Amino acid sequence: MDLKLSKRLSTIISMCEPCDTIIDVGTDHGKVAITIANMHISNNVIAIDNKALPLKSCEDNAEKYLNYRSANFKTLLSEGLDKVDRKVESGIIITGIGYDNMLNIIANISDYNYKYLILSPHTKITNLIQYLDRHGIDIVEQKNVYEDEKYYYILKGVRRI
Ligand SMILES: C[S@@+](CC[C@H](N)C(=O)[O-])C[C@H]1O[C@@H](n2cnc3c(N)ncnc32)[C@H](O)[C@@H]1O
Repeated sequence: MDLKLSKRLSTIISMCEPCDTIIDVGTDHGKVAITIANMHISNNVIAIDNKALPLKSCEDNAEKYLNYRSANFKTLLSEGLDKVDRKVESGIIITGIGYDNMLNIIANISDYNYKYLILSPHTKITNLIQYLDRHGIDIVEQKNVYEDEKYYYILKGVRRI
């Protein structure tokens, strides 16, 4: 059985590329993390939320929709990336939360071995673009999605070399 994905969620997933561990912070329903695990583009997938109820809905969906041959999938109750191993090569997805909250989550991002970030705040996209530039993160891809009478801006960032 396949999960139904909105255009916005499908677009987020389409911007991910292979790496050791893909981490979805603020996973809520877990649709993005579960679909990525089923696609096998990373060895591991970690679905993070800082609230128990959304994480439970992710776990319920995982039980229904995770294929038996999916990547190693785990859920984690964590404030942002606090409980994540900083050394692991990761692709980090943070979408559907506000800009200020997102900044707290990526405040120490340079300490992590991330290969790319997929970021889509609900608010202040221009501020985020400027923040990333000031903090040595280059935007290598941007996709805009119009859905439910709203525009969503999805950025892919990599460490500047
Ligand atoms: C609106 S949902 C977005 C779900 C999904 N990422 C998306 O784009 O559709 C936001 C989720 O982020 C979680 N969240 C908010 N702040 C967080 C934080 N600092 N760390 C982890 N999860 C967080 C919330 O509990 C909620 O489940």
